Amino acid sequence: MSKPRYYFNEGNTKADLDFTNLGFDYFPCPYRFEAIYEYGVWRARGLVENNQLELPEGSQCVHYGQQLFEGMKANTGKDGNVYAFRPYENAKRMAEGARYLQGAAVPEELFVLGIEEAIAANLPFVPPYGSGAAMYMRPFWMGIDDNIGVKPARKYLYRVFVCPVGPYFKGGFGKDVGQQFMVGAYDRAAPLGTGHIKAGGNYASSFKPGCEAKAAGFAEALYLDPTNRRYIEEIGAANFLGFKGDTLITPDSHTVLPSITRDSLMFLAHKMFDWPTECRKIPLEELAELDAAACCGTAAVITWIKRIVDGTQEWTFEFDERWQKLYDTLIGIQNGDLEDPFHWRHEIPT
Ligand code: PLP
Ligand code: COI
Repeated sequence: MSKPRYYFNEGNTKADLDFTNLGFDYFPCPYRFEAIYEYGVWRARGLVENNQLELPEGSQCVHYGQQLFEGMKANTGKDGNVYAFRPYENAKRMAEGARYLQGAAVPEELFVLGIEEAIAANLPFVPPYGSGAAMYMRPFWMGIDDNIGVKPARKYLYRVFVCPVGPYFKGGFGKDVGQQFMVGAYDRAAPLGTGHIKAGGNYASSFKPGCEAKAAGFAEALYLDPTNRRYIEEIGAANFLGFKGDTLITPDSHTVLPSITRDSLMFLAHKMFDWPTECRKIPLEELAELDAAACCGTAAVITWIKRIVDGTQEWTFEFDERWQKLYDTLIGIQNGDLEDPFHWRHEIPT
């Protein structure tokens, strides 16, 4: 039997952190998982303690943005088990990104092994049931050759670090905390570019519109489609949702990141609540006809929208109880309070 990694006094099993007051911030948990691809095979290096990376200075990830990341959460259930949410969907999305960036995809089993190992090794830092916090997982992938030419790497690094986190937007979810967004003057992704994969470069492009929105007092930028600048794309690092009458609508676009949270919410709306759903083009001016608006993602969960501003135009919305219903159901499935009819929970072996 292997020896435990952590030893506690007085029967305590958690790190001495104030889990109820966490923001969405980096925290250096003791262990991270690492694997390397070279000579055509992936090899799990296992857990490492050093949170610094040593890379060849010519690495493709450094110069040419050959890099991907994922964002996922795990929750402690009432039963004390730790559950990740649909990790194979993130594995597939990262593999799709690697194929697009012409690199070696992380096999799904290795991707999931990485998150399992990183969570299990940092168990005292996983927020307890009822704290309102979650363990955020950040798997990432990068091309790391000794290189100077503009070409894909032959060698790749896969790493997973984890951080206990609280709400992404100030105030978290609640009737009284609707957020305000500003339509950005710049695009985050090109029409036939990398918007649909989780490449770091998309986020570099979002800094200018995002910082401008924040400087003007908004929570984030709303992106329009890069071809016509007419249709709603997404908001910061979250997808857009709206209710038009009974129907839950979301933009259909090749240039938005296919959100796993959005997929889950649309599925719940359709299969569990029998609400009509539509994935289609949503012109910005259609905001005037919506009854409610929100954005969603792993970090944002569901965040309802109070106001959207585009120059001199603006649209305002009220809180809608249907957001609460979606939120409660999603969180309930994630942390084990509710049945898991679609087999979305993945128990972490600890
Ligand atoms: N859109 C962007 C640009 C994102 O960065 C994210 C976060 O991952 C999302 C949407 C939401 O995706 P998911 O629900 O899979 O976290
Ligand atoms: C997530 O929602 O997990 C994300 O990856 C957003 C992140 C860029 C903060």
